[in-house]
This record gives sequence, C-alpha cells and structure tokens, in this order.
Amino acid sequence: MKSLVTGIAGFVGSTLAEELLSKGHEVVGIDCFTDYYDVNTKMANIKNFESDVAIVRSDINEADLDALLDGVDTVYHQAGQPGVRSSWGRDFTTYTKMNVDATQRLLEAAKKSSTLKRFVYASSSSVYGDAESYPTRETDRPMPVSPYGVTKLAAEHLCTLYAKNFGVPTVSLRYFTVYGPRQRPDMAFNKFIRAALQGSEIEIYGDGHQVRDFTYISDIVAANVMAGNSSVDPGTVLNVSGGSNVSIRDVLRILGEITGRTLNVNYGPPTPGDVRRTGGESEESAKKLGWRPSVQIEKGLELEVEYFAGLLNKGGQA
Ligand code: UGA
Repeated sequence: MKSLVTGIAGFVGSTLAEELLSKGHEVVGIDCFTDYYDVNTKMANIKNFESDVAIVRSDINEADLDALLDGVDTVYHQAGQPGVRSSWGRDFTTYTKMNVDATQRLLEAAKKSSTLKRFVYASSSSVYGDAESYPTRETDRPMPVSPYGVTKLAAEHLCTLYAKNFGVPTVSLRYFTVYGPRQRPDMAFNKFIRAALQGSEIEIYGDGHQVRDFTYISDIVAANVMAGNSSVDPGTVLNVSGGSNVSIRDVLRILGEITGRTLNVNYGPPTPGDVRRTGGESEESAKKLGWRPSVQIEKGLELEVEYFAGLLNKGGQA
C-alpha cells in the first residue's frame, strides 16, 4: 500500500503519516514549508519519520504530480492554506492558490492515475458558516462566513465534480476544529496553553460564548485511515466532529483546572469570519466508515497541555 500525504509537515499531515507508517504503508509526501508559521515547527513535526519517507519540498501548483502519484493507491490531501481569520484582504490570493488551484491540479493528476483507489480531501466545518440549525448535517446548505471557508468549499465541490465526471474516488472529510499535540501555533488551544503555562495574557476574540465542536487529532487521523480504506461512493462528503460542543469560556475553565493556574484572560472584539457556533452530526461517518470520536474534550486538552509543557520544558518550539 502506497499513500501520498500532502501537507505532510503540518499538524494533521505529519500525525497521519506516522500512523500510516506504523500500519506498514509506504508513504510519500509533499510540503512547501510556507512561513505561515515557524518552519522549524514543521521540521520538528517530520523529524521522527523523515528518513523513512520521500518528501517533495514543493508547492503542489508546481510539482511533477504524475511522478508523485506513481504507484500511489491512496491520496490524503491535507495541504492547504489554513486560518479562518487571516483570509481577508490581499492574502486571499494565497488561499485560492493553495486551497483551490492546488486541489484542482491534484485532481487532474489523480484523474489520470491507474493505481489510485481513494482520494481523501481535508475539508472543513467552516463550509457551514453560521448555520440555520444545529447539529449541521452534510446535506445542509453550506454558507461560509469567511473567505477561507469559501475556498475549502470550492475545493470540496471540485472533489465532487471530479468524482462525478471522471470517477476520481474522492471522499471529503469536514474536520471540526482539530486540536491536540502539534496543533498549529495560530490556533486557540496552542495559544491558550502556552499563555497559561507562561503566565502571559490570553486574548479572547469576542465574549467567549462562541461554541466549537472540537475534535481530537487521533480521531481525525482514524477517520482519514477509515476513509482511505473505505468503499464509499466517489464524491462522498462526511462530517468528522468530536462531539464536544463547548464554549471558549468552558475551555478556559477546564484549562484552569488542568494547569492549576489562574488564567490571565482579556476579552477583545470578535473577529470577522469567526462563526458563532460549530456543531456537527457525524452519524453518516458512523454509518459509512464505522467512525466515532473517542477522545473527550477534558482528556484531549490534558494531552495537549502535557505535550506543550514538555516542549516548553525542553526549551523547544511550542
Ligand atoms: C479551525 C482551523 O483553524 C481551521 O483551519 C479549520 O478549518 C476550522 O477550525 C474548522 O473547523 O473548519 P477555528 O475554529 O477558528 O478554526 O479554530 P481555533 O483557532 O482553535 O479557534 C477556536 C475559537 O477560539 C474561535 O472562536 C476563535 O475566535 C477563538 N480564539 C482563537 C480566541 O478567542 N483567541 C485566540 O487567540 C485564538
């Protein structure tokens, strides 16, 4: 079994690659090591396995994708420009290039492959926007409220189009705010945990009553592996949501309990593009993949605190 992981140096990509390697898969990867966050963090993510994996250091828009897909049976397309709040203004072209153009180019190459059995696309809960009702189902009308969400949805539609027209065996997984060890430094828990451990200020965007269906990294990795092995119809779209449904204020309370610290919290203005609530129904993933989340928010946060505390103790990148 030969898998291609795009965005292999990222939070999800690197964790997924390790899991595939531990299952005996041959893994190849691609990553362009952008400086959206510290490149040393990405280097650290791949440190444990870089000698076992051929990693192409290139933008998907420029790489020789036919060569990259040679003999590959499963693509896990994790690469993309992340970050909901920074997708406005001039930076939007980065989002269209990295999320839409790159996915379209990869799908064109996938279309020609004679070995490909599955193409898993990392979609996002941000496609829903401020939904009409909760929990959101895959059949609900997507109405993103951030430019980022628009690009993730566009790429998801491309996956469905290439499935319907050319039989590319796509499955799109809508991730709901992934957290855990290696979480990106621009994301809430990473920032909150570092601040809690170092006694610095935690800035909350808005009143802290926004709710997220946080999903632990090992559950996201498991959903990918299950999707990669599944025989669901090409073009399938599935929610993968952790079932937490907690507010940011709840998170701060749990974090205070775990760290035993009094958190220094400052409530600022909300940021455009942030949804008020995410909450997914994952029954389809349970039915079609046999997937259910297994890590509860309290446990997951504890594991993430442990991870960043370890990094800070070593004086490393957190
Ligand atoms: C996350 C990812 O960053 C996206 O790439 C992904 O597509 C999306 O989840 C998703 O589920 O689709 P987000 O929910 O904004 O986006 O994740 P966090 O950065 O962890 O933020 C969670 C909440 O904490 C947001 O309401 C945000 O406004 C808040 N926050 C974040 C703060 O109040 N302060 C901060 O410093 C950071």
